[in-house]
Amino acid sequence: MSAESDLVAPADTGVHQKAVNQGVAPATYGQGDRPPRGDYAQARTDYTCEQDWATYSAADHDLYRRLYERQAAQLPGLACDEFIAAVKHLGSPTHIPRFDALSDAVYRATRWEVVAVPGLIPEEAFFSLLSRRKFPVTGWIRKPEEFDYVVEPDVFHDLFGHVPLLFNPMFADYMQAYGAGGLKASRLESCEYLARLYWYTVEFGLIDTPAGLRAYGAGILSSAGELRHSVTSPQPRRVGFDLERIMRTRYTIDSYQSSYFVIDSFQQLFDATAPDFTPLYRRVAAQDEIAAGSVVAADRLY
Ligand code: PHE
Ligand code: CO
Repeated sequence: MSAESDLVAPADTGVHQKAVNQGVAPATYGQGDRPPRGDYAQARTDYTCEQDWATYSAADHDLYRRLYERQAAQLPGLACDEFIAAVKHLGSPTHIPRFDALSDAVYRATRWEVVAVPGLIPEEAFFSLLSRRKFPVTGWIRKPEEFDYVVEPDVFHDLFGHVPLLFNPMFADYMQAYGAGGLKASRLESCEYLARLYWYTVEFGLIDTPAGLRAYGAGILSSAGELRHSVTSPQPRRVGFDLERIMRTRYTIDSYQSSYFVIDSFQQLFDATAPDFTPLYRRVAAQDEIAAGSVVAADRLY
């Protein structure tokens, strides 16, 4: 038996089944009634597929370049130093990167790999890939009319937002721990709480630095408008990182966040999430949820 198999629920619970591609778009959480985009017929049972780089058009590459240049211009003063230092690993923005070359580079740095997927995949399959240090990146790119906003993650969000920090050793280890924790959360039926942790750290996290607050979350870093909003707008609440508080907090997927959580360091994030979450999930389940944007007495506000 491989080390990873004892992290996976027994097949008779039906949980394992959900991680296996059947060739059709999966039901995914939080995306309403539309099936995700992407061709699941070409994907393997673990949902990975070929990038099929040759099928990108000149217009696709040009759209990627314009997205990249718009974001890169905004990074100074808004993105954390670790991200800015690593974004160069994406290579020249004139073309959508080849995942295999990028994967080799990140493997050399932190033993992570980049793998292609058709689009959103079920959470079990996602956790399983992360737990094996494989980051799934959507192959397709948005349409030109989605330049400012795309509902589902596309290749630009996944690559530009997520891949640079996989070059950071501490963050890379956090991502793997998250994947293993996700497999455990599935068994404990606590995926919703763990998904909030992903949302408020990996996707929308802020970090306090000597130079001021900076973004490290991929959803912010790949967003034209939210990057500046998250760091500088007086509107949203910015709350000091608190694991239990995050797991109780709902989130919205169709507007800028009204709450962000602020870590002091990736070490803090890694250390705070290292203990067994089993008792925490029970405590969270016994308490009221907190609405996005609201403040509770114990909050440490920035
Ligand atoms: N410590 C968590 C658990 O026991 C696993 C985890 C680590 C989850 C890091 C998320 C992030 O479930
Ligand atoms: Co993302």
